[in-house]
Amino acid sequence: MNTTTDPTQALLDLYCQELKLPGLRKAAPAVAREPAEANQSHAAFLVACLAQELTSRREHRLSVQRMIDNPLRNMSDHTLKAAIDGAYSFQEDQQRLLDRGSITEDEWFINLHTYLSSYYLAATNPRGQSGHGGDEVRYRYTQEMVLPALHKSGAFIDIGCANGYLLEKLVEWTSPRGISLEVYGLDISPEMIKLARHRLPLWTDRFYVGNALFWRPPRRYDFVCVRELNYVPRQRRRQLFEHLLLECVSTGGRLILGPRTEERSIPGIEDEVRAWGYPPTGLAEKPHQEHAQLVRRLFWFSAPQA
Ligand SMILES: C[S@@+](CC[C@H](N)C(=O)[O-])C[C@H]1O[C@@H](n2cnc3c(N)ncnc32)[C@H](O)[C@@H]1O
Repeated sequence: MNTTTDPTQALLDLYCQELKLPGLRKAAPAVAREPAEANQSHAAFLVACLAQELTSRREHRLSVQRMIDNPLRNMSDHTLKAAIDGAYSFQEDQQRLLDRGSITEDEWFINLHTYLSSYYLAATNPRGQSGHGGDEVRYRYTQEMVLPALHKSGAFIDIGCANGYLLEKLVEWTSPRGISLEVYGLDISPEMIKLARHRLPLWTDRFYVGNALFWRPPRRYDFVCVRELNYVPRQRRRQLFEHLLLECVSTGGRLILGPRTEERSIPGIEDEVRAWGYPPTGLAEKPHQEHAQLVRRLFWFSAPQA
């Protein structure tokens, strides 16, 4: 039984138990900060420990994977794999643990959102707080790919909205085009929604905490935007897609999937979704800024007629 009276240590112990990440204790000395001295909350300290632990696990895993994995077609550098999705290896690892029964599905969701929010909350700019590296030009290059999917004014929800930055930017970018969006956001992480509400107080009531897979929307939306389907375990992707398209999009509305990074020569997510019986209504594609073999793609799907 834990008898420590130090609140940070007690929280750390709790997190180790709850998240099944015993390495957090090892990470704490590396972070080596007195929360009070550094004017840092206990939560921020724990997040820093988590980031430290996950970074070292990920670095280790990547170096092992480099040796045992087949590299992507004609790409020898594992950093390309990381460029496709920064959280990819962590999610694969979690998927393996889930498949072998070492973690439950609930733990999968907790681990993923804790991993993501630890990085986002440590970021110092609003792009980083929503999971994007780089400057505003780079951010806009990819994110404005949503615009061609918006064929009318209406209600727009970002599934996995993080700090709400995309919503803020979309309102700014669409108004000169005569499109008016009433924006909403959902995120599994209470910390991210707290941040979104703090940043965008006028929209406080339009941010929801919930797991996209099980979330019962209070209404339907003209646009439901989800960047990735890997916000859920692999075997649940179709369920997530169908839940969003069939239960969250209003008649005449669209489910927007992306923008995401894929290999140029491979259909990627499009094939997976087509195989479920949902050919895309439209698509936007742009070259990746650094890697000629990669592209940014975004798809949209019209809701079936009622
Ligand atoms: C890469 S950020 C995306 C931010 C924003 N949508 C954008 O495109 O800029 C991913 C966000 O999805 C959230 N998320 C991950 N899994 C989720 C789930 N199952 N349900 C709801 N949100 C989820 C994470 O907490 C994180 O804030």
